[in-house]
Amino acid sequence: MKRVLIIYYTQSGQLKQIADSLAEPLIRDENIAVDYYRIKPVEDYPFPWTSDGFFDCMPESVEKVPVEINLDDFPAKNDYDLVILAYQAWYLSPAIPVSSFLKSDVARNFLAGRKVITLLGVRNMWVMAQEYVKGWIREHKAQLVGNIVLTDKAHNLVSVLTIKKWLMGGNKGPYNILPEAGVSEKDIKDASRFAGPVITALKNNDYEGLQDELIVLGAVGLKYHLMQMEKNALRIFRIWAKLIRKKGEAKNKKRRMRVRLFKYYLLFIIFVVSPAASAVFVVKRYLLYPLAKKQLRYYREV
Ligand SMILES: Cc1cc2nc3c(=O)[nH]c(=O)nc-3n(C[C@H](O)[C@H](O)[C@H](O)COP(=O)(O)O)c2cc1C
Repeated sequence: MKRVLIIYYTQSGQLKQIADSLAEPLIRDENIAVDYYRIKPVEDYPFPWTSDGFFDCMPESVEKVPVEINLDDFPAKNDYDLVILAYQAWYLSPAIPVSSFLKSDVARNFLAGRKVITLLGVRNMWVMAQEYVKGWIREHKAQLVGNIVLTDKAHNLVSVLTIKKWLMGGNKGPYNILPEAGVSEKDIKDASRFAGPVITALKNNDYEGLQDELIVLGAVGLKYHLMQMEKNALRIFRIWAKLIRKKGEAKNKKRRMRVRLFKYYLLFIIFVVSPAASAVFVVKRYLLYPLAKKQLRYYREV
């Protein structure tokens, strides 16, 4: 019998749906047992979000400031062969509940020596978040053996509009002329195709070529211009995060003015600067093709 633990956090339920889709063929296999563990912040983040709340969590997301997690019911059983860590990005960083969990002693002790597959359900900017998660997995002496990323495939600006409606209204859409927000129903359903190679690797206890097989199945869609924009944006977020945190901790009213300035700055960058920046990065990709290819390969691998 092989045992799998799926550790996840979700607000809307989207990431749980993705995890369920991937897990379904594993659960059907009588030689595999699958357990779930939902990360539970003591004080959870509200869904849908208010505008102030949404932008107020940028500094702590970027600086990986942990919140308290209720770990009382973390599985005491210690015989899992594989861990699937299902998480989302917040402000180009792992979502605060997930980074808080990964920074905990419970995660450190539990992950030591384990095989981990990361499973992401995000808008479209996740590579820097994954770099942090990779770092923690390494630090905890676990081994990242696979990575599957489901994104919103709409145009970047369209997905900004729809995700705002979804996260602040609670409804995934579609809305009039705008498509459904987030990862499409079809992509969620099709995530079950990644289970085959995972089951084979799990049963043979051989994860050597797993990520290559997952990549062939389309597990990591990655766009060079988005990756470049993300790297630049994270540098700027770090500056804003410091500026805002100088005024106080999360939810402190004294920092509200700076949080609102950040919001308008971000909207300006997204709708005015990013279209031009995208065009520059598309050209750069062709001019520096071998380097771009190398970078894309690096972020697709584990
Ligand atoms: C505060 C916040 C910030 C987010 N920032 C990003 C981001 O930087 N990159 C990205 O691809 N998606 C981002 N998203 C979208 C999430 O990664 C995720 O897809 C969405 O919130 C649905 O996740 P759920 O399963 O928790 O409902 C953000 C969402 C929230 C709530």
